[in-house]
Amino acid sequence: MTSSTEVKSSKKPADTRGLAGQTVGDTQICQVSQTELIYRGYEIADLAEHATFEEVAHVLLVGHKPTADELKRFKDELVSMRAVDRGILEVIGKIARSEPSSDDAHPMGILRTGISLLSHVDPDCEDNSPEAQMRKSKRLLAQIPTIIGYGQMSCEGKTPVDPDPNLDLAANLLWCMTGEKPSELNAKVMDVSLILYAEHDFNASTFAARVIASTEADMHSAVCGAIGALKGPLHGGANEKAMAMLKDIDAYIAAGNGDVDSFMAEAFAEKRKLMGFGHRVYKNGDHRAGILRSWGLKIAEQNGPDAKKWFDIGDRVQQIMFEQKNIYPNVDFPCGMTYFVMGIPVPQYTPIFVASRITGWCAHIMEQHQDNRLIRPLANYTGPALTKWNEARS
Ligand SMILES: CC(C)(COP(=O)(O)OP(=O)(O)OC[C@H]1O[C@@H](n2cnc3c(N)ncnc32)[C@H](O)[C@@H]1OP(=O)(O)O)[C@@H](O)C(=O)NCCC(=O)NCCS
Repeated sequence: MTSSTEVKSSKKPADTRGLAGQTVGDTQICQVSQTELIYRGYEIADLAEHATFEEVAHVLLVGHKPTADELKRFKDELVSMRAVDRGILEVIGKIARSEPSSDDAHPMGILRTGISLLSHVDPDCEDNSPEAQMRKSKRLLAQIPTIIGYGQMSCEGKTPVDPDPNLDLAANLLWCMTGEKPSELNAKVMDVSLILYAEHDFNASTFAARVIASTEADMHSAVCGAIGALKGPLHGGANEKAMAMLKDIDAYIAAGNGDVDSFMAEAFAEKRKLMGFGHRVYKNGDHRAGILRSWGLKIAEQNGPDAKKWFDIGDRVQQIMFEQKNIYPNVDFPCGMTYFVMGIPVPQYTPIFVASRITGWCAHIMEQHQDNRLIRPLANYTGPALTKWNEARS
């Protein structure tokens, strides 16, 4: 019987698995809510429209909007740090050439290995002072595009190119991956996508980085852990899986099996999860998705009907998901289509996410170290009752 002071609720208890709905710490770096995404006081649409990726990186890492002089020094410093140790590049090239060049290859693994190797040549590796952390953050930001590019060119059997000091980070990333100067539009869209991906408070990979940093481990170890977390399809890997799904739909239609609607009906009947949809926080839509879609569409329209068709298929998928499941796309859905019409190989989508999110990760690692306490939560034990070893049956 319920006592007079107890009120029995008929409501289902909230599902808190995966720390859903739990606030687990403070941060000054980013605010994620149903209605807003804010980097250190700047709203994401404002940044995507008016800032460059280097400016956003400065905001996240250094903590404020740079003056013209500060920005110039920051960019010059990044350019001067782009070269990667030859021995490391040789290892990257060797692994990349030995991986199958299908969409199932894992440049994320190559990048994780590359960052791990970089720790061995970084003079500040074991120094967690704020000054050393900042130097390491800048080196990682500058060198990740070099590693991604070297891996991609090697895997395609092409001769890798050196970073181009005349190009900003986004354009240089495309140059390193292709050996071709990107068009103004492609460079701009890459820049915007890097801004959108740069930071997202306590998402899984950033939280993983903070947990590792809280043990007073070094920045490279925390970043390697974060890359591991980002690789999964429920997190950063979703941008590759979203494009894979659109390709599946295209092949399904081409084979005469039906249209987008019947593909989706089959997916729902089989209770398949659709990658690039849903979000732990944004239940009414991801602010970044519409911004990236509109930039990607500009490229698709410029490239003609073969490119535009991916957005047509994607828009129909999006409409059906909304009408039948009330689930919105997250940023990874338009990212898949956008990078595809830019000609970027699908297995590089998540590594490009790293090239951007490295700014957020490093900012969080530094913030964790500034006011550190070991992250060590409790677990609720649900295993067998206590038993004497000699009395137990084997
Ligand atoms: C992002 C994600 C992991 C969030 O998970 P979550 O907060 O635990 O959300 P839930 O799993 O509680 O989802 C709530 C409901 O929506 C459904 N749902 C969520 N995302 C879905 C998706 N992408 N496709 C189909 N159904 C989905 C769930 O099955 C669940 O339905 P149920 O209540 O009938 O069981 C989840 O939406 C997902 O797996 N999306 C696909 C991967 C992806 O795009 N990741 C990138 C995130 S930025």
